[in-house]
Amino acid sequence: MAQKEHDALTGTETTGHEWDGIKELNTPLPRWWVYLLWVTVIWAVVYYVLYPSWPIGLGDYTKGVLGYSSRAELAKELEAVKQSRAGWLQRFEDSTVEEVAGDPDLLNYAMAGGRVIFADNCAPCHGSGGQGAPAYPVLADDDWIWGGTLEDILFTIRYGVRATHDETRLSEMPNFLADEIITAEEAGEVTDYVMSLTGAGVATVAGQTVFMEQCAACHGEDGKGLKELGGPNLADGIWLYGEGRDAVMAQLGNPRHGEMPAWVGRLDDVSIKQVTVYVHSLGGGQ
Ligand code: HEC
Ligand code: HEC
Repeated sequence: MAQKEHDALTGTETTGHEWDGIKELNTPLPRWWVYLLWVTVIWAVVYYVLYPSWPIGLGDYTKGVLGYSSRAELAKELEAVKQSRAGWLQRFEDSTVEEVAGDPDLLNYAMAGGRVIFADNCAPCHGSGGQGAPAYPVLADDDWIWGGTLEDILFTIRYGVRATHDETRLSEMPNFLADEIITAEEAGEVTDYVMSLTGAGVATVAGQTVFMEQCAACHGEDGKGLKELGGPNLADGIWLYGEGRDAVMAQLGNPRHGEMPAWVGRLDDVSIKQVTVYVHSLGGGQ
């Protein structure tokens, strides 16, 4: 065996390899590094034996003696969540909206869920806080076209307004001018009368007569609306289709009708109850 050569400058042993006069020093790896390497090797082997790790063929892999699977783990966790939710869901299903609103726990849960459901499904039309938009009613005031009790709101949300569901809330304002139910002159008079209900302009007897004959059936004799027929309150200064004489006139010659989708079938019953309680809480629940 050849005598090991030592580098003159550092005194370190060389490997004997030499390139163009440069010799390779034989510097051993640090101890800690070598130990760490062995630890990782042992860890890899232990892991391989215990856990799923190595692909063997299409879609298959070594399973490990512990039989662990992150999918099974996830399924177990989801099951636990489902169990705990099921208790809540059952309580919701068994409760009327009044009972939900009267039970602090359920109310809390409904408000949290209802807020999210509202933001996802209702805010595009009704605004993020239910503040409404032209032609989309405000849900945060106490002016209700179809009624503001929990039961009323529940019904509206379930079946919608002029929607495709059989139970939907229906009612249509006739086209008074096109169908010549009233003359243009009477239209002017009744419009003045409607304006006078909010304190703008002067009522005439002629206008009042037309109103009583043609409009009171749906909007009430005092013009304050009839919830059963979805005739909005014309006397409160809150307008769905715009304020002022022209807007009222427009409704006589070209009546507009809002459409609100039915949510039964799109949202489950528990979600509908939650969002009902949430809407009721926005400020105007009756
Ligand atoms: C596509 C638009 C649209 C969406 C989405 C929508 N609505 Fe409506 N909603 C309307 C319109 C339009 C009306 C007014 C119907 C009418 O003219 O009578 C209405 C009316 C209502 C009313 C009755 C208001 C009253 O004064 O009586 C309630 C309550 C209501 N919506 C709740 C909801 C809830 C809760 C959601 C979400 C689950 C929702 N809406 C989603 C358009 C929408
Ligand atoms: C058959 C029922 C019915 C009759 C009769 C009727 N209306 Fe209406 N009217 C409605 C309904 C329903 C709406 C609301 C449409 C909607 O919600 O989209 C409405 C809406 C209106 C609006 C718009 C309200 C707003 O907030 O923008 C005005 C104004 C109005 N009616 C005036 C009249 C006048 C004036 C008469 C009589 C000449 C009359 N209506 C007769 C059902 C009726």
